[in-house]
This record gives sequence, C-alpha cells and structure tokens, in this order.
Amino acid sequence: MRAKTPRESMVEMTELVLPNDTNLLGNLLGGRLMHLIDIAGAMAAQRHCNRAVVTACIDSVDFRHPVKQGRAVILRAKVTWVGRTSMEVRVDVFSEDFLTGNREFNSNAYLTFVAVDSEGKPVEVCGLCPETEDEKKEYEAAIKRREERLRRRNAMQSVMMRCDAEQ
Ligand SMILES: CC(C)(COP(=O)(O)OP(=O)(O)OC[C@H]1O[C@@H](n2cnc3c(N)ncnc32)[C@H](O)[C@@H]1OP(=O)(O)O)[C@@H](O)C(=O)NCCC(=O)NCCS
Repeated sequence: MRAKTPRESMVEMTELVLPNDTNLLGNLLGGRLMHLIDIAGAMAAQRHCNRAVVTACIDSVDFRHPVKQGRAVILRAKVTWVGRTSMEVRVDVFSEDFLTGNREFNSNAYLTFVAVDSEGKPVEVCGLCPETEDEKKEYEAAIKRREERLRRRNAMQSVMMRCDAEQ
C-alpha cells in the first residue's frame, strides 16, 4: 500500500446554520456541531484508507465562540497520524458571516477512526508521509495523544468488567 500525504486526505465541508440546528438563543447546537465534526473527520479518514471507518474515540471539544443562525460553519479535516488500523484526524471549525465575509475560528477536535471490513473487523491502512514542518510536529504530538487515549481506554475496560460482574 502506498503511503499518502495529509494533503491527499484533506476535506473541507461547508454547512449553513439553519433554525432547526439552533438553541433558544439562535446559536448552533453543540451536538449538531459534533455530528458535523464526526462526518468531516470520517470522510478524511476514508479518503486516506479507501475503506469504511468507525469512530473509536473523540477527544474533548471546546466551543470558543457561538455560531449564529444564518452563518456558514466550515469544517477542515486532515489525517495527522496513522497506526496499523487506526487514524487520528484533526478537524478545525470556523464560522463565516456571509454579509461581511468575516471568518472566526470556533473550535477544533481530534478524532480516532478505525478502518474496518464488512464484518466490522479492523483492517490495515496505508502509511502517512507528513510533508510540512507543522505536519511533522503534529505527527510527533499525536503519538503522545494516542498514549493518553489508550490509557483511558484501559481504565474504561476495567470499569466495564466491574459493571458486567455486578449484573
Ligand atoms: C473501534 C473498534 C473497531 C476497535 O476494535 P477492537 O476489536 O477493539 O480492535 P483493536 O483493539 O485491535 O483496535 C484497533 C485499533 O483501534 C485503536 N483503538 C481502539 N479503541 C481506541 C480508542 N478508544 N482510542 C484510540 N484508539 C483506539 C487501537 O489502538 C488499534 O489501533 P492500531 O491498529 O492502529 O494499533 C471497535 O471497538 C468498535 O467497533 N467500536 C464501536 C465503533 C462505533 O460503533 N463507533 C460509532 C460511535 S458509537
């Protein structure tokens, strides 16, 4: 399998914030934004590995500014690290006011996707070749983020085993 660059998997997605997507203040709902982040991230991961993927983990998301109804929400997703079957994707979120053309950074998130076969079993993915200095730094930082996730996952597995035993 040929290794790919982060650029090859990049995805940009633009959505108009409609009334049905907003809370009582007319701001985009956090859950709706997380849904869009998941979709943009999954498309980048699928573009990288040319396989179906499932979301294994979403790191914390901080919402810095509300996105008002009528603005565009723009999501940029890029693969930042690749393991044997898993991929880390970073999604940056901006909003744009069509009337002024102003753009504002809203939030970002790191997600982990796993490539799977038709039975949902993890399958190997092609490697990643970071090109720019930023991509190389991001790749190094991703290794630390992954260690933290796997620590959390192990801790969660012990909790799940206790819950199973109590039932
Ligand atoms: C994700 C899933 C396919 C992993 O399957 P598994 O049998 O546990 O497989 P493994 O333990 O071999 O893990 C496969 C890869 O995922 C990674 N992974 C699994 N859980 C992870 C987590 N919580 N965070 C980060 N990476 C994770 C592993 O490190 C491994 O990576 P690598 O192959 O690059 O080294 C499986 O847990 C699953 O199907 N989960 C449900 C996914 C889903 O339904 N998502 C939708 C939202 S609920």
